[in-house]
Amino acid sequence: MINPHKANHCVIGMVGLGVMGRNMLLNMADHGFRVAGYDLDKDKVESLHKEAKEHEVFGSTNIPDFINLLQKPRAIMLLVPAGKPVDLVIDELLPHLEWGDLIIDAGNSHFTDTASRAARLQKVGIQFLGVGVSGGEEGARHGPSIMPGGPKKAYEQIRPILEAIAAKVNNDPCVTYLGNGSVGHYVKMVHNGIEYGIMQLIAETYDLMKRGLGLSNDQLQTVYHEWSESDLNSYLIEITSCIFKKIDEKTNKSLIDEIVGVAEQNGTGMWTSQSAMELQLLTPTIDLAVMMRDLSVLVNEREQANDLYKRSIKLFSGEQKSFINELQSALFSGMIIAYAEGFALLKVASEKYDYHLNLEAVARIWRGGCIIRASLLEDIAAAFHKKPNLSNLLLDPTMSEKMMVHQENLRKIVCHASLLGIPIPTLMATLSYFDAYRSRWQPANLIQAQRDYFGSHRYERLDAKGSFHSEWGDAT
Ligand code: 6PG
Repeated sequence: MINPHKANHCVIGMVGLGVMGRNMLLNMADHGFRVAGYDLDKDKVESLHKEAKEHEVFGSTNIPDFINLLQKPRAIMLLVPAGKPVDLVIDELLPHLEWGDLIIDAGNSHFTDTASRAARLQKVGIQFLGVGVSGGEEGARHGPSIMPGGPKKAYEQIRPILEAIAAKVNNDPCVTYLGNGSVGHYVKMVHNGIEYGIMQLIAETYDLMKRGLGLSNDQLQTVYHEWSESDLNSYLIEITSCIFKKIDEKTNKSLIDEIVGVAEQNGTGMWTSQSAMELQLLTPTIDLAVMMRDLSVLVNEREQANDLYKRSIKLFSGEQKSFINELQSALFSGMIIAYAEGFALLKVASEKYDYHLNLEAVARIWRGGCIIRASLLEDIAAAFHKKPNLSNLLLDPTMSEKMMVHQENLRKIVCHASLLGIPIPTLMATLSYFDAYRSRWQPANLIQAQRDYFGSHRYERLDAKGSFHSEWGDAT
């Protein structure tokens, strides 16, 4: 029951009390904020109350009561599934809101939806922030990385709350105002694109060590644990190491071996690739990671192809220890490139959509709380500190030193994998991207010639300005 004496005093309300919403709200309450939650589902409201213990957390299953709990101007955060549910909630809330109230969409919304919602709400005097939140359930409860975008004034209204609940790295909160419009959700989308890329890169190293070297789950656990204490130090490597320790309660075997090799997706990785393609920017690691999830779903076709193209995978015949060292190094270069793709995309998008993004700030808020947190982000932040306008991380002297050290091992791994017949599309893509990017010469002269040959599309010459056409002769 709502205590009427305390009505109108909650500093923020949350719509959507699924695990993420509930955990964020409890995180706020832990930091001394009086908060309110709304969900249609009575059970969810009850679990909120149960978990809130002595904190000042109020729940409701009724919109007018919920609104009544909030101090004015109201701040209401939405943690509901992206897409239509966000609009439905906004429609439900609007009749109860007043000029100057603030809606914060903290889900994984598409940035174009965020832009249209902001425009729609501005017309009726409601402020709107699109806020990316990363860190999963644990992060939401104990400190996520938060990527807010929208009007600065609106951000200032909830800044103390966001700074209090965000993860901290050396006391710096992993949240900062990123800029206007849909920038928060754009940055979160790219975060997820990088997340897809790194997850797939790691999965490929697993495949190579499992099928190429025949390592047991215990051995895999040890390798990833050692890697997590190296340059590769990151959340995703840490959890990978832990995964190989987990024993299935049902079978008493390693849980990983009981899980189907099919990976679903919510779409954020694909959105990153789509946006990159639209902005004519390369994100091959991310693209391939999305595609490999798509391929994983084609279970029946893969079964058929497996029978049709039988070729047994023989164990790698060389020295295991050096293979693992090469792999570690290859993965590190792959990781550098996954981040390089993501940051290059952010730079171009920032110019295109007038975000005025500070890339150093993005690297800093990704150092803690989020899924792609990694030690490497310190170097990335330093690179953008030195050169805020850096087009591509691969042009930074520190990154290039690292790539010079590791690239040869990436080449070796690509060769081993091809001979073994183990697919490592993202590792291969990172190498091809790297080799293409660092090459002054491109074979695109031939493409120009072909276009001019069949379509008189004209070509440019090395020795003269302007565009030219030639009669290429008869192909038959
Ligand atoms: C995060 C995650 C989170 C979510 C992804 C999963 O940063 O906390 O990215 O947002 O787990 O949306 O995405 P897929 O379901 O597409 O893998």
